[in-house]
Amino acid sequence: MATGPVSRFTSALRRDLDVARERDPAARSDAEMVLTYPGLHAIWLHRAAHGMEQRKWHLPARMVSQFSRFLTGIEIHPGATIGPGFFIDHGMGVVIGETTEIGEDVTIYQGVTLGGTGKHGGKRHPTVRDGVTVGAGASVLGPLEVGEGAKIGAGSIVVKDVPANSTVVGNPGKPVIVDGQRVDPQTLHHPDLDHTRLPDPVAEALDCLIGRVEELEAELAALRAGVPPPPKSDEADCSDGVRDRIREARAAASDAA
Ligand SMILES: CC(C)(COP(=O)(O)OP(=O)(O)OC[C@H]1O[C@@H](n2cnc3c(N)ncnc32)[C@H](O)[C@@H]1OP(=O)(O)O)[C@@H](O)C(=O)NCCC(=O)NCCS
Repeated sequence: MATGPVSRFTSALRRDLDVARERDPAARSDAEMVLTYPGLHAIWLHRAAHGMEQRKWHLPARMVSQFSRFLTGIEIHPGATIGPGFFIDHGMGVVIGETTEIGEDVTIYQGVTLGGTGKHGGKRHPTVRDGVTVGAGASVLGPLEVGEGAKIGAGSIVVKDVPANSTVVGNPGKPVIVDGQRVDPQTLHHPDLDHTRLPDPVAEALDCLIGRVEELEAELAALRAGVPPPPKSDEADCSDGVRDRIREARAAASDAA
C-alpha cells in the first residue's frame, strides 16, 4: 500500500470528512463540508502552520495561523499538537494555545478556550487525551490533563485535572459523573472525614448489651409477675455480629501496628 505524502494527505482528508459527518448530524455532502466548514478549514491550515513551525519558520507559521483566524474565527497557535480525528464544530471564538496537546478523536465546539493561566513559559496549556468532548464556551486553563473519554459541559471553567471517562460541569468545573456513576462533586476527592459517624464496634457492642439487659429485665419482670415473657426481638441476635466486628477491628489494629 502506498504511504507517500499524497496518500497520507488524502487519507487524512478522508478521515477529517468522515469525522465531521459522524459528529455533525447537519452534515450533508463532502462538497458542502469542504466548502463551508470553518472547523475543517482551520484544521487544514493548522497542519500547514504546524509543519512550518516544526521547521522553525515561525513568522510564516504565525501568518498562516492568523490568516486562518481571519477566515474562520478559530485561532490555533502553530505550536499546538493535534492528533487525528479532531473536529471543531461551528468553531467561531475557539482559541488553542501554543503548548496544547490534543489526542485522537477529540471534539470541541464554538467558543472553547484551551489556554494558559499566566505569562510563564514552558508547558502552560492543557493536554487533552483521546476521545474527549469539550462543550461550547468552555475554558480549560493551565497545564492540566483532561483524561481519556471525558466530557466537559458547555460553559464550564476547568482549572484542575479531569478524570478519564468523567463528565465535568460548572465553574469551577467539577466531575458530576465518573465511569457512568453520578458523584457528589462536594465529596469527590475529599474522603468523608466525619469521624463521629465512623462505624464504632465499641458503641455497637454497648448498644447490643443495653438491648440484651433490657430484654432480660423484661423477662425477669414477667417471671416475677407469673406471666409469659415477651417474645425476643431480632436485636437479641446482635452479639455474634458485634463479636465479629470487634475481631475485625482488632485484626486491623494489629495490621497497622
Ligand atoms: C456535559 C454534557 C456533555 C452532558 O453529559 P452527560 O454525561 O450526558 O451528563 P448529563 O446530561 O446526565 O448531566 C449530568 C449533570 O450535569 C448537569 N449539566 C449538564 N451539562 C451542564 C452544563 N453545561 N453546565 C452545568 N451543568 C450541566 C445536568 O443538569 C446534570 O445534573 P443533575 O445530575 O443535577 O441532573 C452536555 O450537557 C454538554 O454540555 N454538552 C456540550 C454540548 C454543546 O456544547 N453543544 C453545542 C452545540 S452547538
